[in-house]
Amino acid sequence: MTQTDPQDGGGGVASASDTLTVTDNRTGKSYEIPISDGTVRAMDLRQIKVADDDFGLMTYDPAYTNTASCRSSITYIDGDAGILEYRGYPIEQLAENSTYLEVAYLLVYGELPTQQQLDWWTNEITLHTFVHENVKEFVGGFRHDAHPMGMLLGAVGALSTFYPDGMAIGDPASREIQTIRLISKMPTLAAFAYRHIQGRPYVYPDNDLAYPDNFLSMMYKMTELKYEADPRLSRALDILFILHADHEQNCSTSAVRSVGSSQVDPYSAVAAGIAALYGPLHGGANEAVLRMLRRIETVENIPGFIEGVKSGNERLMGFGHRVYKNYDPRARIIKSAAEDVFEVTGKNPLLDIALELEKIALEDEYFIGRKLYPNVDFYSGLIYEALGLPVEMFPVMFAIPRTSGWIAQWLEMTQDGEQKIARPRQIYTGERTRDYVAIGQR
Ligand code: SDX
Repeated sequence: MTQTDPQDGGGGVASASDTLTVTDNRTGKSYEIPISDGTVRAMDLRQIKVADDDFGLMTYDPAYTNTASCRSSITYIDGDAGILEYRGYPIEQLAENSTYLEVAYLLVYGELPTQQQLDWWTNEITLHTFVHENVKEFVGGFRHDAHPMGMLLGAVGALSTFYPDGMAIGDPASREIQTIRLISKMPTLAAFAYRHIQGRPYVYPDNDLAYPDNFLSMMYKMTELKYEADPRLSRALDILFILHADHEQNCSTSAVRSVGSSQVDPYSAVAAGIAALYGPLHGGANEAVLRMLRRIETVENIPGFIEGVKSGNERLMGFGHRVYKNYDPRARIIKSAAEDVFEVTGKNPLLDIALELEKIALEDEYFIGRKLYPNVDFYSGLIYEALGLPVEMFPVMFAIPRTSGWIAQWLEMTQDGEQKIARPRQIYTGERTRDYVAIGQR
């Protein structure tokens, strides 16, 4: 029987014996369950019953550690081999040769754009970078010390009230304009949040600038007439955006798909993705890495910290991954991009701690045995700090490019005939039917 790997869309040739024969020892009955794309359909288990009125078997998979929720042709990951491809293009080649806007087009439309298509796309994104003036007031309503990720979460959700046409998810033209609006406005909202917590006036988008340069301008422009980013920094930022654009069915993408399955508008669905990404185990890890490196403070303190990890009192943030049981290919690329940035900004002293921490961890059986390697978040924070960003902005820097992945996955979900509103089942562990007791008798 050909073993088809669910990760590669079932390239193997199906044969008559592509079935699972299960015997229910409670009844002695056997069942033939089809295997396709390396999976069995959970609904095929429902026929396995002990009595006619039995509900039938379900699968139980907390955190969906072994459950495929959809078919997707957007991103391919091989966690053991450390492979990451967007629409079949290796991430290493895209980081080397492409730009974030070109990669966003690839994720959304499935193919690399021609020059004419890229010119159209770039023009559309550029023309939609402004937000409604009332959004400025909305962002201005947050406390001066509000976490920018919470501000972004609120602002993107608020966009659904400015674009009620977003609810027309069955209309391809509506889906396309919401896609363009989200990708183009995310940097503007992120920069407004940053300027708010800095107590500085907002900087409007500059349509003469490329996507990363425009973002840096909205973040850092002061009294100069025209902001000019160092091309090494804007290129490094563009590479970071490429690396963070999509990552198949991660926590935040699953949130976008699940919320989107109720047929709500994409702004509300992407706001759910931002909420999930905010968590320290997901996109908030880059912020947690910097706080961890600062807490370690010196290379001499690393052995004590490692002992803390082994005793369960610490977590080595930026290490480990649900899928990668090898070095995250994005971490390798970010590590080299960091050197380019440090040429401009000067080396981040925390880099020495990070490099020594990685060296020790990669030689320690505790981490090797658990297949814990640096992930995308381990080095990215060092670049963001070198760019002068406060740690609270780090997950926001993740959300900006992940918007193209979220919206590409949302588009795929809205057009997938197998999908409907997400509604998992449960194993009920609570009390069963009991009579109400008056308060005097409790
Ligand atoms: C991202 O899914 C994606 O694709 C996400 C992402 C994307 O692009 O969307 O790649 C982005 O979120 C990267 C991950 C960023 N998070 C962190 O760096 C936080 C630290 N790492 C973890 O908490 C953890 O590794 C996860 C959450 C990333 C993965 O957790 P899993 O797959 O649920 O693994 P686990 O928690 O079951 O851990 C397995 C074992 C456990 O040991 P035991 O209890 O079996 O003894 O490894 C240990 C864990 O305690 N472990 C760690 C560890 N990560 C796992 N121990 C110390 N330090 C760590 N970082």
